Amino acid sequence: MNTLLLTIAAYLIGSISFAVVVSKAFRLADPRTYGSKNPGATNVLRSGNKAAAALTLLGDCVKGWLAVWLVQQYGPQFGVGDDGVALVALAVFLGHLWPVFFRFVGGKGVATALGVLLGLNGWLGLATLVTWLVVAYAFRYSSLAALIASVFAPFYYGLLFGFDAKLLAVLVMSALLIYRHRQNIANLMAGKESKIGSKKK
Ligand code: G3P
Repeated sequence: MNTLLLTIAAYLIGSISFAVVVSKAFRLADPRTYGSKNPGATNVLRSGNKAAAALTLLGDCVKGWLAVWLVQQYGPQFGVGDDGVALVALAVFLGHLWPVFFRFVGGKGVATALGVLLGLNGWLGLATLVTWLVVAYAFRYSSLAALIASVFAPFYYGLLFGFDAKLLAVLVMSALLIYRHRQNIANLMAGKESKIGSKKK
C-alpha cells in the first residue's frame, strides 16, 4: 500500500513540466509550439533565454532526484524497500514523459533521468552526466549526448551494483528515453538535427 501511494506521488511530481511552468513565469512562448516542440530545457534554450532553460533543467532534474532520494531515505521506515525505490524512480520519469497535468504530452526525459540517477547514486549520476558532457562538447548535439549517455547508464549501474530491480528501472528508463528521441535520431541521420545554442524556428 505504501509503495503504491509513493509511486502515485512520484508520478504526480514527475508530471510537473518545468519547461511549461518556467516559460509561463518568464512570459516566453510555450515550448510545445516552437523548435522541436519538446517541453524540455534544450528546447527552452531555443527561445534564447538561458536562465529559463537553466531553471527548466534544474527543476526537471531536481524532481527526479527528490522523488528517489526521499523514498531511499524514508521508504524503509514505511516498509518500502529497493523494489519500491525502482517503482518510484520509474514513476517520476513516466510522469515527466506522460504528465497528467498536461494532457499526457511531456518531455523526452533527459533531465529527469539524470535526477533519478543522481538520486539512486551520486557516482552513477556523475558518470552519466560526464558522458553527456563529453559527447555534447565533442558534437554539439544535445540529443546525441542524451542517447549515448542513456546507453551507458545501465552499464554504469551494473558495474557499480550488479543486477537488481533498480537496474531494471534504469534499463526501462533508457529504452523509453531512446524511444522518445526517435525524431532526433531521424534528424541526426539526415544531418538535420539542430545544434546546442541554435535559435528557434
Ligand atoms: O532534452 C531533450 C534533448 O535530448 C533533445 O531535445 O528539443 O532537441 O528535441 P530537442
